[in-house]
Amino acid sequence: MKILITGAAGFIGSTLVELLRHEHDIRAIDNFSVGDVRHVGDVTVEEMDVANQEHVEEMVRGQEVVVHLAGFTGIPVCENNPEAAAVNILVATKYVTDAAVRAGVRQLLFPSTFAVYGVPPHHITEETPRAPIGMYGNLRAGAEYILLAAQQLDGLGALIFRQSNIYGRGIAKKRSLLNILTDQVLRREPITMYGSGEQVRNFLHVRDTVQAYKLAIEKGATGIYNLGSAETLSVRTIIETVNEASQRLFGYTVPVERKPDRGAAGREVDLTDFHFDISKVQRELGFQPKLKVRDAVEELLAQESSVPAT
Ligand SMILES: NC(=O)c1ccc[n+]([C@@H]2O[C@H](COP(=O)([O-])OP(=O)(O)OC[C@H]3O[C@@H](n4cnc5c(N)ncnc54)[C@H](O)[C@@H]3O)[C@@H](O)[C@H]2O)c1
Repeated sequence: MKILITGAAGFIGSTLVELLRHEHDIRAIDNFSVGDVRHVGDVTVEEMDVANQEHVEEMVRGQEVVVHLAGFTGIPVCENNPEAAAVNILVATKYVTDAAVRAGVRQLLFPSTFAVYGVPPHHITEETPRAPIGMYGNLRAGAEYILLAAQQLDGLGALIFRQSNIYGRGIAKKRSLLNILTDQVLRREPITMYGSGEQVRNFLHVRDTVQAYKLAIEKGATGIYNLGSAETLSVRTIIETVNEASQRLFGYTVPVERKPDRGAAGREVDLTDFHFDISKVQRELGFQPKLKVRDAVEELLAQESSVPAT
């Protein structure tokens, strides 16, 4: 199949290119604003911008499937640069969606986020209403609506994954919580714990994440899916896991420094308990996350450095 992957120099994108490149004809693009992977095996990542409509028309033409991963990622960058974030998430997604409709693309896959739920009830399914709080969640929710409108009006096959926290060792480096903690341990620096440490996150390994994309492409799936794992862990537990692994592997632990809660750019609400229901993706796509945080911590510690320098 001819598959376009935008954001292919990034964390999820480059790992997805690696998974799909043997079986499919992959076109990979990125503007290298964050990601820096230039080649994945025999696939070269082309320098193109999804916020440039001419680039988008050109990259989408002739494709059967589009995986649109490019865009501003995470809460701080969206809060700090709201206009640029709107262009890179909303406008770019509109360009990609319209180009996909014109090109007769059969399936457009889009990574949304857990953040569209805002402060959800304890049990979170795909039916839980969107109630995003900050720019990141609102822009991703807006992008979801752009895809869903094209699905309703133009018959586009739109697939939306509402992803939890993606961690682990992929092709590109990533500043995710787990990767930052393991890097601090490797540098023997104190770990910073904000607030009580009781705030919980749902974690999904990047190599499991790309398996879900593969399944969705193989099945030609459409609709909205929560994409996470059974591992909803507190920040305190993650820190303890990293220190225990360090003790086992290197014979040392690092001190934990507590700082007041900074509430992720002041806009995110930290939840202390929830159940992220992934039964739909398990049932309909046959998705089964296999990798565990504990194993990934050891894998990350075994490498020299897992996060990009700032
Ligand atoms: N990693 C997570 O935990 C997570 C969770 C939920 C959703 N997502 C979403 O999944 C997608 C991929 O996430 P990731 O972790 O791989 O992020 P990433 O930042 O590693 O990758 C995104 C890539 O997009 C590129 N990019 C940004 N703007 C672009 C533009 N205008 N044109 C072309 N390329 C551009 C960047 O250079 C980067 O390589 C993002 O859209 C992100 O919002 C990620």
